[in-house]
Amino acid sequence: MGTERTLITGGSTGIGAALANVFAAHAHDLILVARNREKLEATGRQIQQKYAVGVTCVAEDLADRDGPRRVFDAVTERRLDVHNLVNNAGVGLYGKFATTDLETELKMIQLNVSSPVELTKRFLPSMIERRRGRILNVASTAAFVPGPWMSIYYATKAFLLSFSEAIDYELQPNGISLTTLCPGPTESEFKVRAGSQRSRLFDAFVMDAETVAKAGYDGMMAGKSVVIPGLRNKLIPVAARLMPRPMMAMLSYRAARPSDK
Ligand SMILES: NC(=O)c1ccc[n+]([C@@H]2O[C@H](COP(=O)([O-])OP(=O)(O)OC[C@H]3O[C@@H](n4cnc5c(N)ncnc54)[C@H](OP(=O)(O)O)[C@@H]3O)[C@@H](O)[C@H]2O)c1
Repeated sequence: MGTERTLITGGSTGIGAALANVFAAHAHDLILVARNREKLEATGRQIQQKYAVGVTCVAEDLADRDGPRRVFDAVTERRLDVHNLVNNAGVGLYGKFATTDLETELKMIQLNVSSPVELTKRFLPSMIERRRGRILNVASTAAFVPGPWMSIYYATKAFLLSFSEAIDYELQPNGISLTTLCPGPTESEFKVRAGSQRSRLFDAFVMDAETVAKAGYDGMMAGKSVVIPGLRNKLIPVAARLMPRPMMAMLSYRAARPSDK
């Protein structure tokens, strides 16, 4: 069994599964959360066999208002201490705001914003009591700029970055660090789930989930506030500081427009 325990939301595929592998390789026991139980347990079994760490799977929908509380209750009932929390589960939705589906967007806000807020709120008291804990929130380079074609998604990530930086500062005296991981386009199921296959965003400079996860883990362990994997991605906040916001919106619009436009 591992030396400490890490809960990872969206741990069944993509960046979350890559993070689960990195934490397990460093001897962490895991609690993995996602909706599809079969997929989640398959990932859990693979990791258990490879690294001989304990893996607990909790199948829950974090886009449901009560999902985060049910995850917390399931962990508490099993008397599992959570030393590190990784809020990774998130989805996007491609399309102009006037035409996209409101219900899908409200669920996205619940998953990308309310769920990390609630899980952080619920798991923090025991970390504060132990005077030890690390939180990794997976935002995106989308957090730094307005995002036409994916306006709500970009806005959820801007919320997550702002919230996380503030809490990281507040928690410094408690010995707890909060790191925000801001990947750019990354190989995973995200693109298809978001319906953004048509977007130019994924045409070039796509990173692999393993490299992104390693950067996130290293940054979290070093207590960094913000981690941006990849040189090209690091330029985005620099450009955002230098350029007027309407110009950033125009560039984002052009970068994300459909390949045939
Ligand atoms: N890929 C990119 O280009 C990229 C770039 C920047 C940031 N990110 C961020 O990275 C994070 C991980 O994305 P990814 O690229 O790894 O996506 P992914 O391959 O689609 O994986 C998403 C994970 O989240 C879980 N999930 C989705 N909806 C959920 C829900 N309602 N409740 C609980 N779990 C849910 C999925 O499992 P189930 O479907 O079984 O629930 C899966 O494990 C997201 O926050 C995303 O915004 C991604």
